[in-house]
Amino acid sequence: MRCIGVMTSGGDAPGMNACIRAVVRTAAYHGVRVLGIRRGFQGLIEGEIVELRPRDVGGIIQRGGTILQTARSKEFMTEEGQRKALRRLNQHGIEGLVVIGGDGSMRGALALHQRGFPVVGVPASIDNDIWGTNMSIGVDTALNTIIDAIDRLRDTASSIGRAFLVETMGRDCGYLALIAGVIGGAEMVLIPERETRLEEVARAVMDAYERGKTHALIVIAEGSPYRTTEVAKFLESHPIGFDVRITILGHIQRGGSPTAFDRLLATRMGVKAVEALLGGERGVMTALQGREIVTIPLEEVVQRRREANLAYYDMVRMLAI
Ligand code: F6P
Repeated sequence: MRCIGVMTSGGDAPGMNACIRAVVRTAAYHGVRVLGIRRGFQGLIEGEIVELRPRDVGGIIQRGGTILQTARSKEFMTEEGQRKALRRLNQHGIEGLVVIGGDGSMRGALALHQRGFPVVGVPASIDNDIWGTNMSIGVDTALNTIIDAIDRLRDTASSIGRAFLVETMGRDCGYLALIAGVIGGAEMVLIPERETRLEEVARAVMDAYERGKTHALIVIAEGSPYRTTEVAKFLESHPIGFDVRITILGHIQRGGSPTAFDRLLATRMGVKAVEALLGGERGVMTALQGREIVTIPLEEVVQRRREANLAYYDMVRMLAI
């Protein structure tokens, strides 16, 4: 292989830049040229392609977001879109592609692989919903952002005696809420993977009040069956002891400089992706399993979903005592 492409696709995640840097420099080390594809699969279809040399990726390891920008492409989901993308790859002499992104992007990568194009995927999404890898790039940074916010909220909550409902991202995956609940000292978490009745939430907050706690914290995943406002309304109409306030963390969770963990994970995965491509592997995704970065078939990745570890749900309840 003499030339490979790299793109970031779907929702951005902190650490994507560290991964781009590792891809470009590993390829250069092996004498392979790298073309950066801007705005994911949409940019590929539209031919937004720029050369990336080792110096072009200097000073980006610590930057959040992605220098290549990203997009969610509807056109690429069509057969015609995928044909256009393949034509662009051939036009530019790109012989292999690294796709950095979430589960939708891994589906896109698999589509190209199934059309015979050499692809390696790298999991990057704050949601940590991608099957086969313990952690995706960006998750650790998002968790650190969430926990920083929760620490601040606790300062005000316990000073004035309030119950805070904090909504985290994660689409239909409760991972961020679960872990934030454990390390943020929540009374309870509401996640899509586990049914919880609003009466139980009110009970948990009231118990906290009755046990003399100065505040109560409920972490709610955005994909939870109850909207955060609905939970607040319910609590406000019950005698729970505390006044209620809501904080929706939103896209703040997606930004910021990647943590040491995410920089290392992104770097190791970028190196592995290029080595896999150059070593003849096709249609795989890099994954963290135990202490190792391995590759697993994209076909397996897209057929399954990373399961929530519900032991954390019970741990939150137990430690709220
Ligand atoms: O997949 C990452 C994510 O941030 C989800 O947690 C969230 O549901 C979604 O993207 C938000 O998408 P958008 O940035 O398009 O609003």
